[in-house]
Amino acid sequence: MEAQFRTAITDLFGTRLPIVAGGLHWLADANYVAAAARAGIIGFITASSFENGARLRAEIDRCRDLAEGRPFGVNISMLPKPTPDEKVNEYIDEIIGGGVRFVETSGRSPEAFLPRLHAAGIKVLHKAPSLRHAKKAESLGVDAVSIVGAECGGHPGVDLIGSMIQGALAGAAINIPMLLGGGIGTGRQVMAALALGVDGVTIGTRFLVADEIWAHDDYKELLITLKETDTALMMQSVRNTVRALRNSTTEIVNDLERTQAGDFSVLRPHVAGALGRQAYLSGDASSGALSLGQAVAFADRREPLARIIERIEAEMISTTNALSRFH
Ligand SMILES: Cc1cc2nc3c(=O)[nH]c(=O)nc-3n(C[C@H](O)[C@H](O)[C@H](O)COP(=O)(O)O)c2cc1C
Repeated sequence: MEAQFRTAITDLFGTRLPIVAGGLHWLADANYVAAAARAGIIGFITASSFENGARLRAEIDRCRDLAEGRPFGVNISMLPKPTPDEKVNEYIDEIIGGGVRFVETSGRSPEAFLPRLHAAGIKVLHKAPSLRHAKKAESLGVDAVSIVGAECGGHPGVDLIGSMIQGALAGAAINIPMLLGGGIGTGRQVMAALALGVDGVTIGTRFLVADEIWAHDDYKELLITLKETDTALMMQSVRNTVRALRNSTTEIVNDLERTQAGDFSVLRPHVAGALGRQAYLSGDASSGALSLGQAVAFADRREPLARIIERIEAEMISTTNALSRFH
């Protein structure tokens, strides 16, 4: 299949398809990101999954070996607790030293780090949960923005505006390459996003069942059984909303928020990242804060990431053909 989907995003990243595999805490490692690269999209190794710069650098080097010369990037997430500037700078040292050309930032403004990244020739994609934040990032000089709607796994922001609205507003308002994410998992939806005027899509949840995701197969088998109603929001009272797999942790946290709204210290023990990692390792997802979006409804089987992307691409092509009947 020839590249039929050239956009400002494929031009920026040098990819075949206008699809970005967003950072996935604990899970977006070299194996996954290199698989994305080989399949014709771009993925981002998630820096916060690595305890220090040296570990991140080893992962970057491993990804380069596996990516067969294709582009890839590193994600710097500055939430849930504001990541200290020194830690971010430590990651940036290794990103620059490792010759990485693309960075995805999220969680808070990337302003303080843009001069260093740009001086090193790195293109910065900033991910935001609202048009307001995306406009701000555009004004700061980022190279591309990604807006995620309320349906997304992870951090949908506090306003919880759906992706269809966000895309329609942003397509007309943003003047740099831009992506829409949140609830996207099919080729028809990719084409709908492009129709809204954005240049590509960000996907997280749909790719969680890929073979290259190291989480336990039991977890992936569970995801395949889930529907769009099986996620829950939590941490709204501390203005750090997270959409996650509905389990005992989302129940407990929501109960605590009803009685002790706004007090993160009582929630912290339940949402600790280590518990989530343990769930991925064991496959027992009955507890732990496990980011998950409504697009889990589209996860229908375990298979290589390249195969998932191939199926999305085939649907993009058939949708384009089907829409031509309106010509
Ligand atoms: C398990 C999981 C972990 C995530 N971790 C991060 C992260 O560490 N940093 C980040 O910027 N985004 C993170 N995200 C958000 C994704 O990069 C992406 O923006 C989002 O998944 C898109 O919406 P979707 O889940 O509906 O596909 C995560 C999402 C999931 C599902």
